[in-house]
Amino acid sequence: MKLIQVLALMTFLSMGAHATDDPLDLQVYKTSSCGCCKGWIKHADQHGFGTEAIDLEYSDLTELKQQHGIKPEARSCHTAVYKGQFVFEGHVPAKFIEQFINNPPKGAIGLSVPQMPVGTPGMEVGDRFDPYKVIQLNADGSFSVYATVEQYDDQF
Ligand code: CU
Ligand code: CU
Repeated sequence: MKLIQVLALMTFLSMGAHATDDPLDLQVYKTSSCGCCKGWIKHADQHGFGTEAIDLEYSDLTELKQQHGIKPEARSCHTAVYKGQFVFEGHVPAKFIEQFINNPPKGAIGLSVPQMPVGTPGMEVGDRFDPYKVIQLNADGSFSVYATVEQYDDQF
């Protein structure tokens, strides 16, 4: 086999691996009219995630959150699902998702930034920023604080 063929084969193989095994692929469920969801997806993409946006009717989206064990008080606009295994609800900065995936806390099913704090990725309003907490969702239905974000720059 000539070198050029080997290189072509290697490129082909790595492309195949990317489609199925990328550890950073997220499926993002949202409604079609959600603008801030698109802003958050852009943020995730820019930070190395491979995102797939899936539009649902509002009632189906609520049902999906229910199925994934995301209680009403932890809900936000969109729900990102990682390998059907972990959920990331709302405007969670990519940095915390990566941290979580690399080292999942025992008993945790994912993270949430409830509602939509101003100044989170995708929720930019000028230079306004409301401090918020990233909540850890546990399989037993309880919550714990995963991170406290006091200022804009803490998100990156
Ligand atoms: Cu939003
Ligand atoms: Cu959203």
